[in-house]
Amino acid sequence: MSAASSTNASAVLNAPAVPTASTPATAPSLSSMASAASSATAAASAASANGTVASAPAGPGGGADEAAASAALTDANSTDLVKRGEYLARVGDCIACHTADKSRPFAGGVPIGTPFGTLYTPNITPDPDTGIGRWTDADFLRAMQEGVGKAGQHLYPAFPYPEYTRVAERDLLAIRAYLNTVTPIRYTPPRNNLNFPFNQRWLMWFWKLFNFRQGRFVPDPKQSPQWNRGAYLVEGLAHCEECHTPRNLMQGLRSSDRFGGEKQAGWHAFNVTADKAGGIGNWSDDDIEHYLATGVAAGRANAAGPMADVVADSTQYLSPDDLRAIRIYLRSLPPVSGGQMHARDQWGRPADDVKRLRGARVTGVDGAQLFLANCASCHNWTGQGVGGTAPLAYPSLIHNSTVGSPDAGNLVMVILHGVNRQTKDADVLMPAFGGELNDDQIAALANYVTQRFGNPKATVTAGDIARLRKRAQ
Ligand code: HEC
Ligand code: HEC
Ligand code: HEC
Repeated sequence: MSAASSTNASAVLNAPAVPTASTPATAPSLSSMASAASSATAAASAASANGTVASAPAGPGGGADEAAASAALTDANSTDLVKRGEYLARVGDCIACHTADKSRPFAGGVPIGTPFGTLYTPNITPDPDTGIGRWTDADFLRAMQEGVGKAGQHLYPAFPYPEYTRVAERDLLAIRAYLNTVTPIRYTPPRNNLNFPFNQRWLMWFWKLFNFRQGRFVPDPKQSPQWNRGAYLVEGLAHCEECHTPRNLMQGLRSSDRFGGEKQAGWHAFNVTADKAGGIGNWSDDDIEHYLATGVAAGRANAAGPMADVVADSTQYLSPDDLRAIRIYLRSLPPVSGGQMHARDQWGRPADDVKRLRGARVTGVDGAQLFLANCASCHNWTGQGVGGTAPLAYPSLIHNSTVGSPDAGNLVMVILHGVNRQTKDADVLMPAFGGELNDDQIAALANYVTQRFGNPKATVTAGDIARLRKRAQ
């Protein structure tokens, strides 16, 4: 099992707890940036032609020239701008990485643990001393589009500016306008504690040279406005590739096999290309949209771990139009099979081990017995779950994409940490078993679950469990 082997040097680049990582080439001057940005604005409005949030009235400049514009109108415009910014900040999931403590939103301090030390996210509230209150809009744009901080320093690509660079200036300024309205919090996150040479920011210049291309999204005129909107979101603000696209040796995103799946921090962000066996080519349109809106594609997949957080903090808030646009774009991704011949969600059949175990004396660690004792109350002894496809059902493990994955890593992570996903529809909770079961027991249980309900080739050892336990959640 290789989930445990993703201890790459990327760590600095690549945030384990939250996804992350990459960067830009040479930083163009502000003026060239400005012109690139204005053409990108046109591009983005094309991309948002389906009338979703992004097509809301132009930003602060909206009617600035007309001195006659009433104060009320200006107020309405700025409220719209801030609302749009709030929505876009959800799409970009800023909160996931910049909120360590829910009572201090956007104040940063989230530790991003790496084998080379720890990186702490900055405070992006408008506090003038500890946050970004003194930043100009140009400073903000430069950070988002070029990965360069206020003092001109290169930022680590644990901050997903390799994607944010594609976002139109007007959308970034809306996010900035929204961030200006959040409560300023006086808080200085701990200093980064990175070992040499990873504490040398100039190295990021080198990394950017090879792995970062700064520039706005350019719509494809051959595609529909919905496709372009989906591409704009997925490749830009929503930064799905940070987790779902494989990386090169320098931990940059690989340009081949895009969305073909990647492992990070113990979790496998599955292949989401249109391949029927390797990806999600056999999902229905509704499955994809529903999964992003709620975390459940009934009878196929449940979002756990980092994807549960993406759904809870970000995609559940997307408008139906934007979810549809994302689905249209995902469906068009060139299929990557990854050598998989059998879809993750097409394995398994109901188990009947309960009959064998009835009255039998079990010696040693027995996966079937552990399953009956710990899992069957919710997932049924047959593995078929309880409640069918109803909302809040305990899902069937048969045809579940995590159980059918060729690698049992996510299954082990689910057993260790449970599932915890809060959305506006539901508080989904599966208990964590990491504290109750030892490595031998979890290995036996995971192997039983994949044998019966999933991909029988996905096996793990107690050593794999010990390695996965070390992963921060
Ligand atoms: C995957 C994690 C992640 C996400 C998502 C994320 N950031 Fe960050 N951000 C970081 C990290 C890490 C840094 C610090 C990088 C460094 O120190 O080099 C950072 C730095 C920044 C900075 C520079 C601040 C400073 O003091 O230098 C700004 C501004 C910023 N982020 C804004 C945002 C906004 C706006 C969003 C949402 C659209 C966002 N970030 C989403 C991880 C993230
Ligand atoms: C923080 C990393 C991360 C980000 C960002 C992320 N994903 Fe995921 N994604 C995952 C992980 C990990 C899984 C596997 C979850 C599981 O096993 O329950 C997953 C699963 C999925 C699945 C289900 C695949 C299956 O077969 O079960 C889809 C669809 C998906 N992601 C789409 C997206 C889209 C679209 C985006 C951008 C809006 C996105 N993801 C962003 C980590 C991420
Ligand atoms: C108290 C009820 C409960 C128990 C006990 C329980 N689960 Fe779960 N399980 C859930 C819930 C709830 C979900 C998530 C449903 C959702 O996403 O809507 C879930 C999801 C899962 C998933 C799918 C995760 C994914 O990423 O697709 C797997 C696999 C799983 N459980 C395995 C197990 C195993 C193995 C055990 C025993 C060690 C177990 N569960 C015990 C309630 C339970």
